[in-house]
Amino acid sequence: MPDFICPVCGKLLSKNGKMYFCSSGHNFDISKKGYVNLLMSSAKGRHGDDKMMVRARRDFLNKGYYDRLSQALCDMVIKYSEKSVSIIDCGCGECKYTMDILNKLKNAGICPDISGIDISKEALYYGAGRSKDVRLAVASSAKLPFESCCADMVICIFSPFVPEEFGRVLKPGGKIIKAYPLERHLWELKKLIYEKPYENKRENDEQEGFEILEREEVKYMISLDSNEDIENLFKMTPYYYKTGFEDQKKAEAAQCLDVSLEFGITVYEKI
Ligand SMILES: C[S@@+](CC[C@H](N)C(=O)[O-])C[C@H]1O[C@@H](n2cnc3c(N)ncnc32)[C@H](O)[C@@H]1O
Ligand SMILES: [Zn+2]
Repeated sequence: MPDFICPVCGKLLSKNGKMYFCSSGHNFDISKKGYVNLLMSSAKGRHGDDKMMVRARRDFLNKGYYDRLSQALCDMVIKYSEKSVSIIDCGCGECKYTMDILNKLKNAGICPDISGIDISKEALYYGAGRSKDVRLAVASSAKLPFESCCADMVICIFSPFVPEEFGRVLKPGGKIIKAYPLERHLWELKKLIYEKPYENKRENDEQEGFEILEREEVKYMISLDSNEDIENLFKMTPYYYKTGFEDQKKAEAAQCLDVSLEFGITVYEKI
């Protein structure tokens, strides 16, 4: 089971009511919502998604537009799980998929033990509100607060992919399930905003130390028929933050939009 380790000395953390502590005397408060902040003070500051992005993503995902992706991810997780499975969701955001995976595993008769980390405490504030059944910590995927070889599976959905660190925490034979945008993901949204939109680049997904077991593509169109949904989709992407005021206004004026969703899923096995 992936218990947290102390970010200062690396020893295992134990839970005592409202805090985690290690045998060297370091301790970390558990927030009222239920997550613990294990980011070292040198790394503290504004990190990851801010409140506006997190709220936009929560409201948009709650409407079910990405449910086919979620279903495909859950099917993959179930396919590669034994009777019980320990999972770390890296960059879990506000835990939409974390919770879908937890619930679908339980329905499939599999016993899940799930931890989630994200560098944004705003994301975990909402994530912790979704369930108490997931262990949540503010931390970076570049320095995961877990012992080596403790997890059966790492999930990485539209979040930073750090293969060396994921490989460290995985047991031999452990899996990574990674989801990422394909070339024309959100193409019509980009066309609405930019004079000259660019396709996403397809990266070489081979990774040293891992074998690719499977790749899947999930592609479909959604129809957005309210400005609120269009704005939420725009605000949950990095495009909004890289776009000037004039271009941001183009989304403010839009009332309906058909948008292509194109997701890639790659399953890796640690060798
Ligand atoms: C596009 S969101 C995806 C969130 C969630 N997986 C989902 O699909 O709904 C990317 C997430 O990665 C987080 N993030 C960014 N850099 C990170 C890092 N170095 N370590 C952990 N999380 C990070 C952000 O705060 C954000 O919540
Ligand atoms: Zn310690």
